Amino acid sequence: MVQRKRVALIGFMGSGKSTVGRLLASEWGVPHIDTDTLVAVHAGQQSVGDAFTALGEAAFRSLESTVLADIVKADEAVISTGGGIVEPPGNQQLISGWRTIFLFAHLEAIMGRLSAPEHAARPLLQDAAGAAQRYRDRLPRYRAWATDEIDTSALAAEEIVKKIGLLVG
Ligand code: S3P
Repeated sequence: MVQRKRVALIGFMGSGKSTVGRLLASEWGVPHIDTDTLVAVHAGQQSVGDAFTALGEAAFRSLESTVLADIVKADEAVISTGGGIVEPPGNQQLISGWRTIFLFAHLEAIMGRLSAPEHAARPLLQDAAGAAQRYRDRLPRYRAWATDEIDTSALAAEEIVKKIGLLVG
């Protein structure tokens, strides 16, 4: 039987979820669904950062959960989630039918990637200590939700895609 490609990528900001998801979906010929993009569209905002700021965190999380509940109905897809998807506990049940791959990276690697100018406006990065604390708080949740974990700290997106290909086949 041909295995259906239903893969969700989870992990902190800067772990490569969107880039890897796009590459993987195009390699497999399945849709790529990015929760950040959909949340921004539903919120009527130009970017996910604008949506987060405009809605406030509680309403943002609620919209993100609504989006997730809808997209997990897909037959086949690669889903790139927002880093905070593990915050509302109910999201775990929604994603449970999906192969859930945690793209781990050490905090130093994450902060290095996020120091690029294009990330400067991200709302959660305005408080570096708070972002680091969220990283530590979320780590056990990513691990509890994941069916697989890849350490991406020293890997390029193409190498991560290869590793997922080997896992999922
Ligand atoms: C968030 C991560 C962002 C985005 C929003 C909140 C978070 O997504 O959903 O700014 O709480 O970690 P990425 O992880 O795709 O950057």
